[in-house]
Order: sequence, then structure tokens, then C-alpha cells
Amino acid sequence: MRKLLILILVLAFLAGGCQTPARDFEQVSSQEKVILKFSHVVGDNTPKGRAARRWAQLVQERSRGRVEIQVFPNSTLYKDGEELAAVQKGYVQIIAPATSKLTEFSPVWQLLDLPFYYEDIDAVHRLLDGPVGEKLKQSLFARNLLVLAYWDNGFKVMAANRPLVKVSDFRDLNFRIMNSPMLAKQFRRLGANPVAMAFSDVYSALEKGQVEGSENPPSNLYSKKFYQLQKYITLSNHGYVGYAVVVNKSQWEALDQKIRQLLLDTLQEVTIWERQEAFKQNLEDLERIRRAQGTKIIELTPEQRKEWQRILMPLREELAQEIGEDWF
Ligand code: LMR
Repeated sequence: MRKLLILILVLAFLAGGCQTPARDFEQVSSQEKVILKFSHVVGDNTPKGRAARRWAQLVQERSRGRVEIQVFPNSTLYKDGEELAAVQKGYVQIIAPATSKLTEFSPVWQLLDLPFYYEDIDAVHRLLDGPVGEKLKQSLFARNLLVLAYWDNGFKVMAANRPLVKVSDFRDLNFRIMNSPMLAKQFRRLGANPVAMAFSDVYSALEKGQVEGSENPPSNLYSKKFYQLQKYITLSNHGYVGYAVVVNKSQWEALDQKIRQLLLDTLQEVTIWERQEAFKQNLEDLERIRRAQGTKIIELTPEQRKEWQRILMPLREELAQEIGEDWF
């Protein structure tokens, strides 16, 4: 009789397991906790930093502690130049590099670095949330990388220790850039010297005078206090900085389907929030820099802006030659 009872119980368990491989989070014991490490290079008080924390918190709540996203900001775990390899090797499960840094794997990502190509943030979203955004994701499959979402920072301003109004003002300035061939071409066209460097090294490089200028949205200039070392900011809004939320593809596919769904559903919600917050925070951080009064904020006249555009717009043709017109 006892044997019969045990047999019925085992059969019932197997039947339950087979039908729904994913199990309710409540029933999952703590030993099966899933921990996902999320490494990024900016501060917590930035659009990306806040979104990473929010995603982690919501996933923790909704999985009743079964899924934990551990966030490592400020390059504390991996810095630029390390984090892509780390996620490929599975040492870390999630990163959110600026798309400029993915040009290391495929030149097509330069599309997002084109200066004066995107009229506004809606134009960027149309591209990223459309077929081109999907094609960009596919360019990383062979690297065992999967893009789950696109987050914004915003449009870049130029910061330097001399006023940047005319193109000739850039002459011979050493400008820190993210590691992207398009950004190097942009500054060479302006007559400056591009210096590719990890984000975590920028402050000390500015302090030591190794570079005299940098470009970033206000939230990065403010959160890392770069503005305290740069006397002039030109509100050029000449290029976009955004992020790809990237995971290790095979690790992701090995995750329980229900967990993947929870991560994706929550990420989709957080992405909508992140994009709104990024827009707001860059305006607020620019005001914070303005109020700090250490930095002179320069607005370009339409004529001055046209001069920059005339010098930089041909980069679009060059890129079309390199990656093909079908990307445009
Ligand atoms: C930079 O390197 O300047 C930025 O990409 C950093 C970031 O992630 O916003």
C-alpha cells in the first residue's frame, strides 16, 4: 500500500513538472536562487545607473527573491575594454555599454555615432525600435551576445578648456572619445586629436591635461564632475549616446523560461521609464552645471551650427560606402 502511495506521488510530481517547466516563484526554494551580475561604467545617479537599480529591485520583488540582479556601477567590476569580453566569457551576465563601444565587434554600430544625423530622440527611437534595430542585434549573435533592450542617455555636448564656437577652435585639441572609429573621424574632421579612453580614466586624464576636451550628455559630465575641470561647454547636441542592454546569449537561453519572461517583461517597463528619465535628467543636470557657475555654457547660432554640420555631415556618405546604403 505504502509503495502504491509513493508511486502515485512521484507520477503526480512528474506530470506537474513536464507540463509547465517553469514553476511559480513561490514554490522555488532559496537554494535555487538565480544571481545575475550587472556591470556598468557610470554612476548610480545617471539614467543608466538608476534604470539598472530599478530593474533589479522590480525583478527581486516580482520573483519573490528568486532572481537577484546584483548591480556593479562605476566600473567597479569591469571597465571599458574589459566588460565585453567578460560577458562573452560569462563572468558577468549583463552589461549595458554605449553602442559606440560595440563598434569593436561590428562597424554597423557606427550608425548611432553619426554626427548631426538624428534630428531628435524620436528619430533615434524610430531607428532602434524598427528593422535596423533588429539587424544591429543580429550583428552580435556570432559573438554569443544578445541585446535585450535599448536605453538612452541623450545628445552630447562638447566640453573643453577653451570656447568651442568655430570649427577652427578645435584645432590640435586632444579630445577624449569612446572607442569608436566614427568618433575618431569626427574629431579629425574638426582638426582635433581623438584619444580613445575608458570612461573611468577620463577624470584623471583631464586633471593631468592628457586630454583637453570630452563629449558626453550633461548627465555624464555632471555625475562624474568632468564639468569642474572643463571651463566651457558648447550645447552642440551633435551626437547621440545610448546603450544596448547585453547578455551572454547561451547563458540567457539556459535560463528557466519563466525567469526570462519576468526579466523581459520588467525590462520592457523599465526601458520606457528609463527613456523618459534620461531626457528629464539631462535637462536637470545641465541646469545643475549652469548653477555651479564654474563652467561657461555656449549656445551656437544657427550659422555656427551650420559650419559644424557642413564639416561633419559627409561622414554619412563615408559610412554608407563602408557598411552599405541598405543600413540607411
Ligand atoms: C562614455 O564612455 O563616455 C560613456 O559611454 C559612458 C556611459 O556608459 O555613459
